[in-house]
Amino acid sequence: MNTYVIGITGASGAPYARRVLQGLLAAGHHVKLVVSPAGEQVVRIELGLRLSGALRARESQWLAYLLEGTDDGARAGGTLELLAHRDFAASISSGSYPFAGMAVVPCSMGTLARIATGASTNLIERAADVALKEKRRLVIVPRETPLSVIHLRNMTTLAEGGAEILPAMPGFYNQPRSLDDLVDGIAGRVLERLGVANDLYKRWQGDPLTRMARVIEE
Ligand SMILES: Cc1cc2nc3c(=O)[nH]c(=O)nc-3n(C[C@H](O)[C@H](O)[C@H](O)COP(=O)(O)O)c2cc1C
Repeated sequence: MNTYVIGITGASGAPYARRVLQGLLAAGHHVKLVVSPAGEQVVRIELGLRLSGALRARESQWLAYLLEGTDDGARAGGTLELLAHRDFAASISSGSYPFAGMAVVPCSMGTLARIATGASTNLIERAADVALKEKRRLVIVPRETPLSVIHLRNMTTLAEGGAEILPAMPGFYNQPRSLDDLVDGIAGRVLERLGVANDLYKRWQGDPLTRMARVIEE
């Protein structure tokens, strides 16, 4: 069991975050989750999840929502802890706390810019800063279109600093049949980059038409 940090910010793509969280919990990991105020807004809009009340109530709301549809085995596996966005005294604020890796999913251009400058104005940015300085895995899942030169420069800075830029750009070559397939294609790659084995997406086995033609020939 490892501890992973997940930051959800105010970019479009809350379904990716939900699937990554489900994957980590199903694999039995401990997740420290931080959601920015804009991230809460987007989650509400995109997933219909209402966040209100005291922190603990919110945590159980997140859990109930995230584990919806997962079986009891998966439910028994991992644990989720919701940390306050401005709690700089949280464990993950310090390099001495050994989390295995972090993903910012989805990552807004604002958070991306602040991580790239080392601004650390909130717990998501601070934990990302810690991941970079401690040479731990940091997966950034940016979402914006079109991208300005400023966005592109910030991504280059982060890639040079050791972060992995994994854009929310679903592929169509595996012939996705549903929105879930598209979401899983990205979430599965995020989990893989965090070192969490998963079968959320199909690995490319070569052109299916070429393979079929070969079988017919034989
Ligand atoms: C519905 C909705 C969708 C948004 N989508 C994006 C997006 O895809 N990318 C982005 O950079 N910002 C997006 N924004 C704007 C960010 O939420 C805004 O810049 C915010 O300040 C980001 O704050 P944060 O980085 O602290 O989460 C969106 C906002 C809303 C309400």
